[in-house]
Amino acid sequence: MAAIKKEETLQRASGGLFVVLEGIDGSGKTTAWQFLKDHYSSDPSVLFLREPTNLPTGRKLRACLQGKEPPPDTDEGWMDLFLADRQANVTENIIPALAEGQLIVQDRYTFSTAAYQSASPDSARQVLAKQKHFPAPDVIIYLDLKPEQALTRIDRRSGIEGREHFESRERLERIYANYQSILPDNCLRVNASNSQEEVRNQVLAIIESARRNQ
Ligand code: TYD
Repeated sequence: MAAIKKEETLQRASGGLFVVLEGIDGSGKTTAWQFLKDHYSSDPSVLFLREPTNLPTGRKLRACLQGKEPPPDTDEGWMDLFLADRQANVTENIIPALAEGQLIVQDRYTFSTAAYQSASPDSARQVLAKQKHFPAPDVIIYLDLKPEQALTRIDRRSGIEGREHFESRERLERIYANYQSILPDNCLRVNASNSQEEVRNQVLAIIESARRNQ
């Protein structure tokens, strides 16, 4: 196993606020993230990040997800790609931004890898435990939507042929169950079957409240 770098274990001493959005595909997470990005666009103290990233590690991942490059054929193969991208994001983006006291709003993090790259809730807990060396988020927001509703949304958006690698029903159900087994007690759940406006207002209210209590 790669050695844990010292600066990555001391990362929270310098402040900042690290907010992570999680949810299954189709939960409306990226829409909420995009809304927040527009909302805070004139505030230089807020940084918007997403995984897969726009770094070379993340661009390779997206190409695999979209079938433009041959995808790994095992969960472990996918996990290696996601962990490499996360490591790059932590080193290049997250640690420096927290050190400067910024608010980070990030679309997907360690919980996604645990939920997506695991065959069962037990292994999801193990995959999450293996990522303890990454900076812990201060706020975890989970957009809660049942797989069936998520698939209806995905199909409306892109048609069945447009589904990305992880979006089949069976997979989404497994991912949903995995999420339920790993989300910590302090995770804030937002009912994602509500209207887009309600969801984004709730997410915004959570972030504003976390900022006030910082
Ligand atoms: P993306 O197009 O960004 O989807 P979304 O907008 O729903 O986040 O693609 C991300 C895909 O990658 C999504 O299907 C979830 C998957 N993923 C993993 O499987 N493991 C991970 O660690 C991460 C970060 C994403």
